[in-house]
Amino acid sequence: MPKNSGETVRRYLLSLNALDSGFSIGRDEQYLYIPIIRQLTDEELAIGGAKLTECETEPVQKKASLEDILGFQPSYETIGSIAIIDALDMNAKQIAEALLTLKHVKTVLGAATPVTGEYRTRELVVLAGELNTETIYIENGCRYKLDLSQVYFSPRLSTERMRVAAQVKDREKVFDMFAGVGPFSILIAKRSPDSHVIASDKNPVAIKYLKENARLNRLSNVEVLEGDAHEVAKTVENADRILMNLPHSAHEFLGSALRSLRDRGTIHFYAIAPDDDPFSATIGMLRAAALENGFDIQVANTHIVRSYSPHRYNTCIDFSAWRL
Ligand SMILES: C[S@@+](CC[C@H](N)C(=O)[O-])C[C@H]1O[C@@H](n2cnc3c(N)ncnc32)[C@H](O)[C@@H]1O
Repeated sequence: MPKNSGETVRRYLLSLNALDSGFSIGRDEQYLYIPIIRQLTDEELAIGGAKLTECETEPVQKKASLEDILGFQPSYETIGSIAIIDALDMNAKQIAEALLTLKHVKTVLGAATPVTGEYRTRELVVLAGELNTETIYIENGCRYKLDLSQVYFSPRLSTERMRVAAQVKDREKVFDMFAGVGPFSILIAKRSPDSHVIASDKNPVAIKYLKENARLNRLSNVEVLEGDAHEVAKTVENADRILMNLPHSAHEFLGSALRSLRDRGTIHFYAIAPDDDPFSATIGMLRAAALENGFDIQVANTHIVRSYSPHRYNTCIDFSAWRL
């Protein structure tokens, strides 16, 4: 067809399911040559001055998928420009090279250990690409800079962070006891500009990024405190809401948390629990610990955040507590 009716004809052929997208469109001074996959009737051809002819065009180069390259779909997660895979996977090197073909991936890291230790970090080795473990990650409209080898971070908690942030009301004082690089605190502070968020962590590297992330997101309502949560809690009073996102040992900090709470407030308590009875033991423990500290509690919501290991869940219990 003449060049000026090319787009009309292309759309028309598409609507007839006659366009052959496996070949590129040919062109010369006057005409475009659009490949088709079947014979067209005279009636179908009577549009835009198109005629049938024969010519050669190039096949379209389709970008190979990871499955095309590897022969299987690898398991990986990406955080900003970094992809992470299991360093112990027998195909780790091949998977890493294949992941570098993804446009946004600049580095592939292998996790050599699970998340471990007080700071909840894992040992990471560079398998392919740039020698770098720092990246910028965007989640729920907030930007986070972080070094994956030195701080905890999991993109799998993004829905959970939004669930909690959506409950924060105007002018609340929020205490995020185990804030990491700030993904709960920053989101809450951004969504509720009238709130005052106190974000603390024991890991000095997490604190460095937390401060930087408050700046990156132009927030002036985040107060960053470095130190052990027991010590920091002594300096925090009258919090309306406390986040306790240290699932393996949050129970050890309940007394400190309750002392920082207003006479009536809300706590989001994270735990690891068996999948056959994920809540009752934790709720029993919470009630007993609250009574010991002069509080009663009412559970507002129980919730499975994600599966943690074959028979264990990462859970969250939201409860209100009031001084007796
Ligand atoms: C599971 S991570 C959660 C981080 C953050 N809330 C998030 O969602 O990414 C727990 C955090 O608690 C911090 N932490 C561990 N023990 C602590 C303690 N005794 N006092 C204060 N922070 C502690 C770790 O450094 C880590 O950043």
